[in-house]
Amino acid sequence: MSTPARSNTRFARFFVPLVCAAAASLAAPSCIYVRLDAEDWDEIRSEWRHDHGPPRSHGSAPLTPSYGSAGLGDPYYPELGGGGFDVAHYDLDLDVDMVTGVLEAVATIDATAGQPLDRFHLELAGLDVESVRVDGVEADFERDGRELAIEPAARIASGAAFTVEIAYGGVPEPTPDPAIPFIPGVGWFRMPSGVYVLSECIGAASWFPCNDHPLDKATFSIEVTVDKPFVVASNGLLVSEVDDGDTRTYAWRASDPMATYLATVNIAAFDVTVSEGPGGMPLRLYAPTDATEDELAEFARTSEILEFFAERFGPYPFECVGAVISYESLGGALETQTIPVYSRGSGEDTVAHELAHQWFGNSVSPASWQDLWLNEGFASYAEFLWFEHVHGVDAADERMRGMYRTTRDAKFAPPADPGREQLFGGAVYVRGAFALHCLRKAVGDELFFETLRSWADQNHDGHGSTADFIAHAERVAERDLSALFEAVLYAPVLPVDEAYEAHE
Ligand code: TRP
Ligand code: ZN
Repeated sequence: MSTPARSNTRFARFFVPLVCAAAASLAAPSCIYVRLDAEDWDEIRSEWRHDHGPPRSHGSAPLTPSYGSAGLGDPYYPELGGGGFDVAHYDLDLDVDMVTGVLEAVATIDATAGQPLDRFHLELAGLDVESVRVDGVEADFERDGRELAIEPAARIASGAAFTVEIAYGGVPEPTPDPAIPFIPGVGWFRMPSGVYVLSECIGAASWFPCNDHPLDKATFSIEVTVDKPFVVASNGLLVSEVDDGDTRTYAWRASDPMATYLATVNIAAFDVTVSEGPGGMPLRLYAPTDATEDELAEFARTSEILEFFAERFGPYPFECVGAVISYESLGGALETQTIPVYSRGSGEDTVAHELAHQWFGNSVSPASWQDLWLNEGFASYAEFLWFEHVHGVDAADERMRGMYRTTRDAKFAPPADPGREQLFGGAVYVRGAFALHCLRKAVGDELFFETLRSWADQNHDGHGSTADFIAHAERVAERDLSALFEAVLYAPVLPVDEAYEAHE
């Protein structure tokens, strides 16, 4: 795994002059040494101490430092996340000044070491870190771009549970994300009406220090204090709302493991409607106070959509459900866990799409960002299934023919490797959905829905990769499907499908 960038700088600073000196020495044998003055030696000593800790007076074998990696090696974002530990829980205590935009926060992170740790990496984009404590003891930290490298005072033993407490703050800003070129950034959006958080892919680090990769899912407690009349909507159950005169404190708790990009906090003067969803679970709708009947009508079938999906995908995976409708447009909707955030004007098809993500994307998360078609191809196909349910098979067939034609005409890239810049494009959404439709036609409805149900069931609160899904589909169908998946997921352009061409 990659070593911290600072080692490379040191390598360049001390190794390069040595090589130059050695080369020079061939021409001028009198110059065979590199002069290091007192300052250089101080720097060498302090770098050594930084990397190896203070000199030890006991024992004979030097301690070899054990560092968690600065990234998890995701094919599209190699630097994302940090290795050597696993986060179990984030406790975020946020104070938000809605006039200045300043966030004052403490993040308490419970984790377990997967290796001895003298140093490990979290991520935080922007903001200022005031202090870091590991198991209650002040720790050293260093920042380099998004990387927040932490050096506990004492080595954390492999397998040990530990707690990191980070006091930080500032005015959060969205982080530019090469996969999301349609908006300037992702994460914490400060809008005229308030704050909305839409972080996919890399925006979670814009508002809290985290292991920012879907491979490290964790439970969350999010507590937010804001001035009245602002209302806070976040993930999971609202466990308390405390009125403190001018301010209110909202405590939210998400008990099911969640990827960092699905954590959200939304703060505006919302109208709140609480009702019962399927099975009596809480269904909370946060809407602009001036939302029209027509705008709200798009959300009226939420429970019906959830029941429709539960019949096809298996039980809804979480404890509650809801929706946040923003006052302004946010460039799209995001399937934030248990409570998607919708841009004003979103329609019922988008509601179906984001609800389907609760199964595909949220409960079963992509093992890498390259596997995103397992989120977006599936949610787009679920949207199609709801369309088929509402409008009938003929209208649905017509729509699928359109998806085939667009895929062919636009020469959409392979869903299994669309490239980072095309991650949220037609290759993944449209060709990805078409790929599932081809699987359905090949194996029949019964085996197809059995494939989706057992995929959601076996990987719930976990992950899957494209290779895992292919192997899973072949197990369920009890046949080799490699030619089919090769064509729909991997071929540079979708091969001609005679059945669809015949309809022209
Ligand atoms: N996942 C979203 C969807 O359901 C798309 C999306 C990704 C998005 N990142 C975003 C939308 C950031 C708004 C902001 O299709
Ligand atoms: Zn989606």
